[in-house]
Amino acid sequence: MKLLLLGSGGREHALAWKIAQSPKIEKLYIAPGNAGTASVGENVNIKADDFAGIRQFVLDNQINMVVVGPEDPLVKGVYDYFKNDEALKNIPVIGPSKQGAVLEGSKDFAKGFMQRHNIPTAAYQTFRADQLEEGLKFLETLKAPYVLKADGLCAGKGVLILDTLEEAKKELKEMLGGMFGDASSSVVIEEFLSGIECSVFILTDGKNYKILPEAKDYKRIGEHDTGLNTGGMGSVSPVPFATPEWMKKVEDRIIRPTVEGLSAENIDYKGFIFFGLINVAGEPMVIEYNVRMGDPETESVMLRIKSDLVELFEGVAAGNLDEKTLEFDERSAVCVMLVSGGYPEAYEKGFPITGIDEVENSIVFHAGTAVKDGQIVTSGGRVIAVSSYGSNKEEALQQSFSQAQKIQFNKKYFRSDIGKDL
Ligand code: AMP
Ligand code: GLY
Repeated sequence: MKLLLLGSGGREHALAWKIAQSPKIEKLYIAPGNAGTASVGENVNIKADDFAGIRQFVLDNQINMVVVGPEDPLVKGVYDYFKNDEALKNIPVIGPSKQGAVLEGSKDFAKGFMQRHNIPTAAYQTFRADQLEEGLKFLETLKAPYVLKADGLCAGKGVLILDTLEEAKKELKEMLGGMFGDASSSVVIEEFLSGIECSVFILTDGKNYKILPEAKDYKRIGEHDTGLNTGGMGSVSPVPFATPEWMKKVEDRIIRPTVEGLSAENIDYKGFIFFGLINVAGEPMVIEYNVRMGDPETESVMLRIKSDLVELFEGVAAGNLDEKTLEFDERSAVCVMLVSGGYPEAYEKGFPITGIDEVENSIVFHAGTAVKDGQIVTSGGRVIAVSSYGSNKEEALQQSFSQAQKIQFNKKYFRSDIGKDL
C-alpha cells in the first residue's frame, strides 16, 4: 500500500520508522517531513494542514491511507474533508473527525464530556470573557495552587498554575482579556491534583480499542523537573507504577467509558487517543485528552510495539480492530531529547549537526532538523531524540546518554536525569 503520513516532528519520524517496517508498505510519503523522515520514506513539500495540496497529491499518487501525526489538521477537519469529497471518501484517514478532535481542541468540551460519562477528573468551572466577576469570585472559594486553562489550542502554553490568589486573579483577567487570543476567550478553572503523571495511548476504530504501551514524559527544561515547560525532554516506557492493577482501573474507569461515550454521542472517531493521566494516591484521573500520539512519548512507545502498526491501522479503518493482535516488546525503551541552548526561550538555529553516523545501537529520531547545503543543521528547539532499548530502564538510559555524547552541535543541551524519579 501507499501511505501518506502528515507532520514533521520527532513523533512523525518515529511513526514513519515503525510504518516503514511493515511488509504491507510499498511506498511511504511524509508531508512535509524532516531530515530524518527522508531516510525511511519520501518527503513531500506540502504542509500538514494544506488540504487542497494533500488532496491533489493523494489523487496523483494513488495513496491508499493517510495517517495524521499532529492535532492541527485534525482540529481543522482533515478527516471530514476526505469523507465529504467524492474522490477521497474511500481513502481511510487515521485520526478522528473534527467533532472528535474537539476533545483536544476545547478543554471545556473535554471536561463536560468527562462529567457526562463519569470519568474521574479534577472538579472545574468554565468562565467566558463576560463572566470575569464570577470567575474571580470562584477563585476565592478555592485553595492554592490555582489551575487556569485556556479553552482552545495554545501550542502547550495555555495552562497556568499559580501559587497565590492574587496572581491567579491577575492571570484570569489577562487570559479572558485576550492573552491567547480566541483560545482564551473561555477559561477553565480547576482543582489542583497532586501526583505523578503518565501518558496512556489507545488506537480505536470507534467501537473496539487496543491499549498501546504507556509512557512518562519529562516536560520541564531543568534537571529534577525545574524551570520552564517544554514540548518534552525525554520519555520512558514502561512506567513502573502502571501495574496491571492500575491499568485495569484506567481501562474500566477511563478508557472504556471514553470510547463508549464517543459512540453514545455519535462522534466519529477512528484514531489515537492520548490520555494524560495523573496518579492521585493510587487512583488514575484524567488531566487532559489529546487526539494524537504524544511527543516525545512516541519516540519510546514505537520501540515497544512488536506487531505490524499498519495492520492495526487497517483494523481501525475497517472497524475490525478486535481481530488484530498487538504484541509488546517486553524490553524497556527510552528517549532523550537533545535541544538547542536557550530553548524553550529564544535560541539560535542553523548550527551543523555532526556525529549522527557514529551512533551505535540506538535509534536517532529527528525533530527540529533541516538540510542546508547537504549538511544536517538545527532548525528547532527540540532537535534530536536518541531512543534506546534496554533490559531495564537504567540500561536503556545509559545507552541513550552515551550515544547522546557523540552527537554534536553548538549549544547542545539535554537532561541527564530522565527516568531517575521513577
Ligand atoms: P495540559 O496542557 O492540560 O496537559 O496541562 C499541562 C500540565 O499542567 C500538565 O501536564 C500537568 O503537569 C499540569 N496540570 C494540568 N492540570 C492540572 C491539575 N488539575 N492539577 C495539577 N496539575 C495540572
Ligand atoms: N508529551 C505531551 C504532548 O505530546 O502533548
